[in-house]
Amino acid sequence: MSIAIIGAHGQLGTDLMRVVGQDALGLTHADIEITDPASIATVLETNSPSVVINTAAYNLVDKAEQEPEAAFAVNAFGPLKLARACADRGITFVHVSTDYVFGRNTNRDTPYTEQDCPGPVSVYGTSKLTGEHLVLSTCPKAYVIRTCGLYGNPLSPGKGNFVRTMLRLAQDRNELTIVDDQHCTPTSTADLATAIAALIRTDAYGLYHCTNAGETTWAGFARAIFEIAGKDVTVRPITSAEFGAPAQRPGYSVLNCDHLTSLIGVTMPHWRDALAAYLQNG
Ligand SMILES: NC(=O)c1ccc[n+]([C@@H]2O[C@H](COP(=O)([O-])OP(=O)(O)OC[C@H]3O[C@@H](n4cnc5c(N)ncnc54)[C@H](OP(=O)(O)O)[C@@H]3O)[C@@H](O)[C@H]2O)c1
Repeated sequence: MSIAIIGAHGQLGTDLMRVVGQDALGLTHADIEITDPASIATVLETNSPSVVINTAAYNLVDKAEQEPEAAFAVNAFGPLKLARACADRGITFVHVSTDYVFGRNTNRDTPYTEQDCPGPVSVYGTSKLTGEHLVLSTCPKAYVIRTCGLYGNPLSPGKGNFVRTMLRLAQDRNELTIVDDQHCTPTSTADLATAIAALIRTDAYGLYHCTNAGETTWAGFARAIFEIAGKDVTVRPITSAEFGAPAQRPGYSVLNCDHLTSLIGVTMPHWRDALAAYLQNG
């Protein structure tokens, strides 16, 4: 199996390259432009992979509210172009999506399955949901994997994530206000990459949820980061309304991952254990 990984220096891409190992062809943004069919065709013709994994995305959730065209180009129509190119060549296509396809149901308090009706509350979420539909309706050999709150160790310099941001702020702050009304499951890209590597060996194409286990809020996650890292920082909980981000986020977007974990026969580590491993190894 020769596997091309798009976004190879991003958070998830870096861990996929490590997990897939010698079968992996890493493609950075300099190697491929997923919004450009000619660039996609050149890469596929030159390398003839049997599997393409797309981790590239427009991830600027707040900025997407002002730039819907840019978000849709990368998150919806880029994946469509990749799916079409893979379908034409009989290539298996793996695409990564998000828990932000949910959020419209404000009464929800039990984990979402793949059968639940999505309802995004942001441009980013809508662009990713559109990408999912376009991929699954275009490529017969496609996996779409929704995940949440990623943190890893990308090769790309200057890429942040919530854990890194908290540790940086802890250097000169002893109190932080953090949003406490968005319930979700932060996920280690190391664990997600391991699960994706197992999933693509099944040929059970379709839509999957994949996060670490359990749930928390950003304030709960921040407290755990400071506790495990031994930082004396007090976390003051605030509401999303008080924080006032330009894009709305889901109040509850915990994903039920049973479909994937029963298929590949693994239990995803609890988010707190995954965080401890990241802080120990990172
Ligand atoms: N991060 C999260 O918290 C989170 C949560 C849920 C779901 N997800 C999804 O998980 C996936 C992986 O996320 P991640 O955090 O690993 O992303 P990331 O670290 O931002 O990596 C994405 C990579 O894709 C490249 N890229 C961006 N636009 C591209 C384009 N048009 N053509 C080719 N390459 C392009 C980027 O390169 P440059 O930087 O050089 O442009 C970057 O290296 C994405 O689909 C994302 O939507 C992420």
